[in-house]
Amino acid sequence: MERVISGIRPTGNLHLGNYFGAVKSFVKMQDEYDCMFFIADWHSLTTHPTPENIRNSVKTILSEYLACGIDPDKAPIYVQSDVKQVLELYLYLNMNAYLGELERVTSFKEKVRKQPDNVNAGLLTYPCLMAADILMHKADKVPVGKDQEQNMEMARLFARRFNRIYNVEYFKEPASFHFADKAVKVPGLDGSGKMGKSEGNCLYLCDDEKTVTKKIMRAVTDQGPTQLNQEKPEVIQNLFTLCELLCGKEAADYYNDLYNRMEIRYGDMKKQMAADANKLLAPIREKITAYASDDALLERVMRQGAEAASARAEKTIEEVREIIGFRKI
Ligand code: ADP
Ligand code: TRP
Repeated sequence: MERVISGIRPTGNLHLGNYFGAVKSFVKMQDEYDCMFFIADWHSLTTHPTPENIRNSVKTILSEYLACGIDPDKAPIYVQSDVKQVLELYLYLNMNAYLGELERVTSFKEKVRKQPDNVNAGLLTYPCLMAADILMHKADKVPVGKDQEQNMEMARLFARRFNRIYNVEYFKEPASFHFADKAVKVPGLDGSGKMGKSEGNCLYLCDDEKTVTKKIMRAVTDQGPTQLNQEKPEVIQNLFTLCELLCGKEAADYYNDLYNRMEIRYGDMKKQMAADANKLLAPIREKITAYASDDALLERVMRQGAEAASARAEKTIEEVREIIGFRKI
């Protein structure tokens, strides 16, 4: 059975971008693939070096994963820092990663701009740790949103390079996976290109009904079309993308026709979007609260996940040590 791995950094609550870009695929894939999902707490140190309460942040994401429908009996969920073997593979990959190529990664350049006072080596080698997460499990498919494409290319590059350097056919090249056949980029509610925690334009899975409605009703729009069949400005295109994700293609087509006939009322479209968002989120919200208060369950899930992931990781590390020529320990 094909193997699947993916993770998200515990730097806040999950939002619709995380949901449609990644977690929805996790839930679908668990029935068809050999899946593991994890919480990338080491990665979060690249941007949050002194996390306030990392254990709580990890539990928040875990509760949200479970509430979205990941079943740990089908797909173990683990915490990255519970699987120390990843660090050893990270080290080997670092030795074969070149400064030039790491410096060219867009997300690194973005972070240099965003946090000029903390351009740490972890940021630079972020793709090496991510590749270690993936290659450790010999994953075939990795469900992630569009913004992770470059990191995925690096993971494939490191897999190929390892094989070439040590003259083996050991690591496979992991493919990115998108359940809708193409990579999803969920736009933000401020009309900007991407919903993201650091952009402050998110609809969170845990937002209450009123907040969801308020945020959607306030989403940025314009005065409306001034010509028949007018091309949509970016903010409006973004609203339609969000509408299709929340309400389905039929509804988005309906509003698109109204737009083309210059009869659109954004307020009506948003009302339906808010209603459908609440329909989607109500059960998830309720489950988040229930899971978050069941500490014993969360601990059990993390322990089982760590055991499953460590067993697989140990096997990989033994093989990698042998390939490079280290002593068996
Ligand atoms: P954030 O941008 O809020 O910090 P992350 O970068 O931690 O989110 O992303 C976690 C996962 O969610 C990744 O797989 C990423 O591709 C996906 N993701 C995040 N935001 C979006 C978005 N707006 N559209 C599609 N996928 C997204
Ligand atoms: N870089 C990913 C993100 O920001 C998180 C991540 C770390 C990841 N390691 C991974 C995703 C391995 C998939 C597979 O969302």
